[in-house]
Amino acid sequence: APVKVSKICCIGAGYVGGPTCAVIALKCPHIQVTIVDLNKDRIDAWNSPDFALPIYEPGLVEVVRQARGRNLFFSTDVDKGIKEADLIFVSVNTPTKKSGVGAGFAADLKYVELATRRIAEVATSSKIVVEKSTVPCRTAESMRTILEANSKPNCRFDILSNPEFLAEGTAISDLFSPDRVLIGSLQTQEGIDACQSLKQVYANWVPEERILTVGLWSSELSKLAANAMLAQRISSVNALSAICEATGANIDEVAHAIGYDSRIGPKFLKASVGFGGSCFQKDILNLVYLSESLHLPEVAAYWRQVVEMNEYQKRRFSKRVVDTLFNTITGKRIAVLGFAFKADTGDTRESAAITLIRDFQSEKALVNVYDPKVPHEQIWLDLEEASPQVPLDTIKKQVTICKSAIEACKDAEAVVIATEWKEFKEIDWEAVYASMNKPAFVFDGRLIIDAEKLRKIGFKVTTIGRPS
Ligand code: NAD
Ligand code: UGA
Repeated sequence: APVKVSKICCIGAGYVGGPTCAVIALKCPHIQVTIVDLNKDRIDAWNSPDFALPIYEPGLVEVVRQARGRNLFFSTDVDKGIKEADLIFVSVNTPTKKSGVGAGFAADLKYVELATRRIAEVATSSKIVVEKSTVPCRTAESMRTILEANSKPNCRFDILSNPEFLAEGTAISDLFSPDRVLIGSLQTQEGIDACQSLKQVYANWVPEERILTVGLWSSELSKLAANAMLAQRISSVNALSAICEATGANIDEVAHAIGYDSRIGPKFLKASVGFGGSCFQKDILNLVYLSESLHLPEVAAYWRQVVEMNEYQKRRFSKRVVDTLFNTITGKRIAVLGFAFKADTGDTRESAAITLIRDFQSEKALVNVYDPKVPHEQIWLDLEEASPQVPLDTIKKQVTICKSAIEACKDAEAVVIATEWKEFKEIDWEAVYASMNKPAFVFDGRLIIDAEKLRKIGFKVTTIGRPS
């Protein structure tokens, strides 16, 4: 029979584990939720008295404020968390492998494996182990083998897949009212019971009809499939944006027109400088690797093209900046507005802004960058990683981090909008124009500004998906 879950442990206090389990604690006051992590700085930040949390998400502080210390705890004591819990989420990172077999494509499962081995080693009672991390299809099988080979007598482990579909920037509202919660289990009695136990946790706030229960492998694959199809829409619209620029069509009008077809739908059709974020590229490459391992090269090539189109979009955009500035940006000052991979997050993983700035640096431009949420240290780390052959001192001579959009634009030849922060829609463009060198160029990589209004002020405006 299903067990009634009273203690949950989440291994991994990152972008997924933190918000997800904080919301579970908020919505299930009768369940004790402990989020553990090996990274002490991260745990200290989650516990900070003034709620200076390690990640920025609208609404997150309010959730943590209500639940922390009541039934939500953050700790570095991983073993204690595991021992006490009847249900354990594994929400550790699964980055792309950097070396060895499958380097550049396959998911690096070492953190998942380490966490799994730790569970097997320290557990003294039966546990439901839930894969929350995004993993390749059939990872649950490996986890089961590890757990069963290392478990103590009277400990049984049931494994579930429960991928997370939240998007950064809207994590809390996505968690409060998810389109669906997906739970995969083995179709044995024990598997189905474990699935029911987890379903009862979500049923505290998610309507039953939105909780989908499927087989383990379908659940694992659905996560990769959902991200691949979302990213594919962006690459499709970005591919069309190149045609628009060459023909005089307008990508916003095209997206609007095709999105009216109820079979296509209007969401996720915004042309951009290219998608970023920790997951789209990683998960598609993972799917490519899976397809290749299964001897399905045509399937692999199909999905790989989604990532290639995204690389092309970023390259194409920085080239358009150089071309428009009379084929040279050497010594010219360029203001890059936005560094996060999307608005409403401080996360910069795979952000298109990193690639753009690296391209501008290699053209020997001077770059001013401003982002309302990204810590300066993070910007330096990302730029250093993007140009490993260039010493940080040299980078710091070329790049300046500014405290406001206005400050970044001062004395610049061009403004490049890389992230769709709301405040960039409300910039005092008259003041910006007055402070810039002339001709003053604006490149809108996010389709957020009123190009006509800016042209009236005197700007030369270039927009993604529109002819110059
Ligand atoms: P993250 O890097 O922010 O957090 C992972 C945390 O796990 C880190 O703090 C790390 O210290 C900790 N950790 C690693 N190994 C550990 C161990 N053995 N014991 C204890 N702690 C350990 O990663 P994230 O963005 O939260 O992503 C986690 C997973 O969720 C990934 O598989 C990702 O693909 C998936 N996912 C992410 C998002 C997103 O929006 N970021 C959305 C859906 C799914
Ligand atoms: C994405 C998915 O939306 C989530 O469902 C999924 O859980 C998550 O990946 C994950 O697995 O990590 P996220 O990357 O946080 O979420 O943010 P998105 O809103 O999907 O944006 C991704 C990138 O695509 C951003 O750079 C965004 O600016 C870009 N984008 C998005 C566009 O260029 N155009 C669009 O129309 C939408």
